[in-house]
Amino acid sequence: MTRIVVLTGAGISAESGVPTFRGADGLWEGHRVEDVATPEAYERDPDTVLSFYDARRRALGAVAPNAAHRALARLEGAIGEDLLVVTQNVDDLHERAGSRHLVHMHGELRRALCDACGARPAWDGDLIDRPPCPECGERMLRPDVVWFGEMPYELERIENAVVACDEFVSIGTSGAVYPAAGYVALAAAFGARTVELNLEPRDTLLLFEDAVPFDEARAGRATELVPAWVDEVIAARSTRT
Ligand code: OAD
Repeated sequence: MTRIVVLTGAGISAESGVPTFRGADGLWEGHRVEDVATPEAYERDPDTVLSFYDARRRALGAVAPNAAHRALARLEGAIGEDLLVVTQNVDDLHERAGSRHLVHMHGELRRALCDACGARPAWDGDLIDRPPCPECGERMLRPDVVWFGEMPYELERIENAVVACDEFVSIGTSGAVYPAAGYVALAAAFGARTVELNLEPRDTLLLFEDAVPFDEARAGRATELVPAWVDEVIAARSTRT
């Protein structure tokens, strides 16, 4: 059976109303990403960083999964654990659409991380008022999101899936942030077919030297491209069985 790894980025949630990171103005909700997404920014000005992520977490209540998230959940329903979705997104739209075989490599807005004991409790409220950790009681909870300079989650599991997959599909990500940006080259080196679904396919001239172009690049909106691609995968499977 074909094993598929799908890497998603902010572009898959854009049509749900979640802003991407590298939009035309280069700002993320009025902030430079580096000013709210580094351990140094948190050390320098924790209130700004906590209230920024509190606002992002609250905003999740006003958005819903779109046809692209739902299509990936449908694909999981059809092929089960032969599909692994690796998302760089910290929103919870994949799981709300029904995906379960999913890795949040950059963490989750709806989770806190305790700087005292390392617990990662599910978290829906704000963090600005320094609530106590449900595990240890210390008031040192921060958003459970991976900041620049920090190690993403579950890298070994992801790399094992990438080297073992037959098809690697990148959806709505600019390929600007490593290690995620390197997975296409890794998948290709191990023989996978590679596909990009993006509003604007990457300009191959701008690719980093160690990256490889995708075997196939489709340009368009995720809500159109992803359901169509999922239909093709499911149809190809049923003709083979
Ligand atoms: P970016 O904002 O860098 O890129 C979003 C991509 O989505 C771009 O390539 C757009 O062309 C594409 N896009 C936008 N709207 C789309 C649509 N409707 N359909 C399809 N594609 C669309 O976001 P990411 O690549 O996810 O990391 O950013 C990667 C990481 O950088 C984030 O996870 C975050 C950030 O800094 C951390 O916080 C560690």
